Amino acid sequence: MRFEIITIFPGFFSGFLENGILRRALAEGLVEVGVHDLRAFTHDRHRTVDDRPFGGGEGMVLKPQPIAEALAALGVEPRGPKAQPEESTECQGTTSVAPNSPLHEERALAPAQDRPTVILLSAQGRPFIQAVARQIASMDRVILLCGRYEGVDERINELYCDFELSIGDYVLSGGELAAAVVIDAAMRLIPGVLGNEASSEFESFGAADAAITTDAEGVPRSQHGSGGLLDYPHYTRPAEFGGLKVPEPLVNGDHQAIRRWRREQQLRKTLANRPDLLENAVLSKEDCKLLDAIRKIQPACIDTEWSKS
Ligand code: ADE
Repeated sequence: MRFEIITIFPGFFSGFLENGILRRALAEGLVEVGVHDLRAFTHDRHRTVDDRPFGGGEGMVLKPQPIAEALAALGVEPRGPKAQPEESTECQGTTSVAPNSPLHEERALAPAQDRPTVILLSAQGRPFIQAVARQIASMDRVILLCGRYEGVDERINELYCDFELSIGDYVLSGGELAAAVVIDAAMRLIPGVLGNEASSEFESFGAADAAITTDAEGVPRSQHGSGGLLDYPHYTRPAEFGGLKVPEPLVNGDHQAIRRWRREQQLRKTLANRPDLLENAVLSKEDCKLLDAIRKIQPACIDTEWSKS
């Protein structure tokens, strides 16, 4: 698959592209990345990419013309403005497909035919989650447009972008970090990129593993998949460090005990750090019993001021 990045800071990506798994994936031709300097598509002496916002207000806005030319150079023509949503007789906020259902995401993120998918990175975008990473990994060619300053002229979004993505509820100085996050999360799901094909499936948020119940060494995995839970903790040698020993079940070689311990840890960590994930997690009867027991001794997230906002 090929990513094209449109940015005013092409140098930002050099370290990112030259290290780790991505470097290997690029060398093996499993992934291609093109970095395109937006200023190369300007025509004035100062190579101006931004201008003041209509209506006044803080900051600057990325001008549409250089972006349109950069996209044209990548073979993307404007599509015609997006249809306005029809007037609905339903209550406000109701749609035939719930916005957060997987079906809604599949429909909206389906790869466009004969055209690269154009993604605008912005704090106003839909949340970038593992399901979106999986969908992006299935696409042939994706253009990532990095916003800067106050944002990008909205007509670019309307005329060219298939969707806007946000990597979290915070405001970055630009879309470059977000583009790197999207590429990293998607490329590791491309077949062949990770040495061990199974490993991305069993991380936090990985796919359900109902069909695979043991790993290569025969250590049983959960019967019910990570099912949207956080990952369990990992340990390596030495067996004792800083006065702490590796948990007993992991060293005694009893595969069923390892499975139970790991599952319990997944439930504990999810309850402590992301109790919201438990609402949609795939839980067995055994999980529910465990969770009830854990809840009695371990409260959900400690409510801090920042966790409420
Ligand atoms: N640009 C600024 N903030 C962003 C965010 N949270 N995600 C993606 N792009 C951004």
